[in-house]
Amino acid sequence: MILAGKIGLVFGVANKRSIAWAIAQAWKEAGATLAFTYQGERVRENVEELVETFGPDTLLLPCDVTRDEEIDRVFAEVGQRHGKLHLLLHSVAYAPREALEGEFVKTSREAFRVAHDVSAYSLVALARAAAPLMTEGGSIIAMSYYGAAKVIPHYNVMGVAKASLEASARYLAYDLGTKKIRVNCISAGPVNTLAARGIVGFNTMLKRYEKHSPLQRNLLPEELGATGVFLACDGAGAITGQTIYVDCGYEIMAM
Ligand SMILES: NC(=O)c1ccc[n+]([C@@H]2O[C@H](COP(=O)([O-])OP(=O)(O)OC[C@H]3O[C@@H](n4cnc5c(N)ncnc54)[C@H](O)[C@@H]3O)[C@@H](O)[C@H]2O)c1
Repeated sequence: MILAGKIGLVFGVANKRSIAWAIAQAWKEAGATLAFTYQGERVRENVEELVETFGPDTLLLPCDVTRDEEIDRVFAEVGQRHGKLHLLLHSVAYAPREALEGEFVKTSREAFRVAHDVSAYSLVALARAAAPLMTEGGSIIAMSYYGAAKVIPHYNVMGVAKASLEASARYLAYDLGTKKIRVNCISAGPVNTLAARGIVGFNTMLKRYEKHSPLQRNLLPEELGATGVFLACDGAGAITGQTIYVDCGYEIMAM
């Protein structure tokens, strides 16, 4: 129960395959009390069913991360209910489908804007809203992917947005460090989720990791959960601004 007494807020559960759900479950098993948000009506029922398993009193609120007034409301309600916050998971990303097909050079201004607003700027907005509640220090974790650092065909504008997310985590880590708030990214290998299925060639990606990563397999969602617990706990108290690869070692390979 290494996270006993910690309050966490989770953004990004859409269904039981969501990475956010794997990390939320691990945080709960480690003793944290959690609140959740969901994007909108489309996923509400699914998320309600899942979150019920955390107990009937669990706070569940709608939040489209592109809407400042919804973000403000979420943090006001978390403040009212729990009085403080220790953990925040940002597991949210989106790019218009046409931007994830074909050539990156054809990315429209609007697709570039939307991908960065939802997938990168939202971390800044959530961290700013969370900081006043993190009076005992905190751990903010965002989900990234290797497409931030290297070209992954078809990942396109999402890779550029992930680069922005990782850089934002570093700048936030600097700003919030004196408040003992740490900000890190987990760069996960491919996981079969709703968002992942929107990427052309996703199955090829899974096969490639199995063949070429040092561990010759794909990661298990519970391994993301375990890393989420590690980054959240005081044992990781000196780790901030980092991108931690949880990808069976794929990132170290050149050939
Ligand atoms: N699945 C993978 O292979 C993989 C690998 C590395 C990183 N990631 C990252 O993990 C995170 C979670 O993705 P996932 O794979 O669990 O898929 P997912 O589809 O389960 O989760 C994506 C979440 O983003 C939310 N979202 C999208 N637009 C939003 C908005 N405007 N406001 C609020 N929420 C919004 C969706 O509702 C959903 O809950 C993403 O940042 C993704 O890029 C995924």
